[in-house]
Amino acid sequence: MNESSWHERLSQVMPWGSSTCSKAPSLLPEEPEVIVRGDGCRVWDANGKGYIDYRNGLGPVALGYRYPAVDEAIRDQLDRGIIFGHPGPLECDVAEMLCDLIPCAEQARFLKTGGEALAACIRIARFATGREHIVQIGYNGWLNSLASGANLLPSVTSSSGPPGVPVGLSALHHACAWNDLDGLKRLFARFDGQIAAVLVAADYQDMEQGHTFYPELRRLTRAQGSLLVFDEVVTGFRLAVGVAQAYFGVTPDLAVFGKALANGMPLSAYLGSKDVMDACNRKGVVISSTFGGETLSLAAAKAVIKTYREQDVIGHLWRQGQKLWSALDRLFQDTGLPLKLRGLAPCPVFCEEQPDRPALALFMRKAFAHGVSLYRVPYVTFSHQDADIDETLAKLELACREVRDAL
Ligand SMILES: Cc1ncc(COP(=O)(O)O)c(C=O)c1O
Repeated sequence: MNESSWHERLSQVMPWGSSTCSKAPSLLPEEPEVIVRGDGCRVWDANGKGYIDYRNGLGPVALGYRYPAVDEAIRDQLDRGIIFGHPGPLECDVAEMLCDLIPCAEQARFLKTGGEALAACIRIARFATGREHIVQIGYNGWLNSLASGANLLPSVTSSSGPPGVPVGLSALHHACAWNDLDGLKRLFARFDGQIAAVLVAADYQDMEQGHTFYPELRRLTRAQGSLLVFDEVVTGFRLAVGVAQAYFGVTPDLAVFGKALANGMPLSAYLGSKDVMDACNRKGVVISSTFGGETLSLAAAKAVIKTYREQDVIGHLWRQGQKLWSALDRLFQDTGLPLKLRGLAPCPVFCEEQPDRPALALFMRKAFAHGVSLYRVPYVTFSHQDADIDETLAKLELACREVRDAL
């Protein structure tokens, strides 16, 4: 009797065959069914095959797998206990570090996921403004995909109200496209004096437009008395140390960090000025979770922030990203593949120039086959050294040639 594959077993016991939709393999048999371990910039599947990894947990692993300073901090804390019935010193240390580092932050609080922290910001904004409507730009986590036309996943948009969301709730949420100032102005006109907040996650492909879009968002929200909330779940600890706020030079009212904040440990933070954060003080909205203040993730975050302060992590992500993705773009051109990488070096996105020709899926298949694990938004980490980039490019050159021959 044939043994079931991991994918078959997972699909039997869970919808999508994965707890995270975007992690479910769609390019079998080349794509790994499961990953069993990681080290530095590499991961291994259940058959022992190794891959140079650019998925990195879909963003969280920015320093690399088993990054020594982070793992030591986690082990050290593990010896003291994981969670307690009172606040802990680490909660204070990391909140202080974030307030020191992030332009909009005077106070911070912790949760586990980015989506949950953005839901907290929505609650705060509604309470602080006494308004009910929310405008969302980009994907802000499944919990907040409530508007008709919202991003259900980073690359999936709903054409109507999202399934499972009451119509009345959906009617209070409005999806707006990145850099669509006219669309935003129309929403402000239609729901005059009713919009509590605009949540914005930067678009990968056209992120540079943030230089003009963010200042306009700031001006408009201020004029309309709405709060501006930056979803820094992806951009945070990737574009700049002081993050997109420093990179684009605009200070929001609230911001949310997750993913790279603890190099893979589950931690998110919502933060803002004392005035705004006061909304979740004792007389305001209640936002509370048993696992807020869990110490292993906070120990990891403290080690992560210390690493970013002491070493040029951000410079490395830009340099290695630039080196790899511009060389890959040249390979696409040289081999005549209708593919392109667009966006900024620390978090670019693969684009198909001829969507009717399935070049991207085929290229990804070949990349997996040669031992390079890619994602629609591929990330370099602090552990990707020059030799890893060179090895990746040699493997991807083979992949490009094979795709060209197959198309
Ligand atoms: C821009 C953005 N915001 C929010 C989220 C949600 O974060 P989480 O999956 O931790 O809830 C994601 C997740 O991919 C994201 O990409």
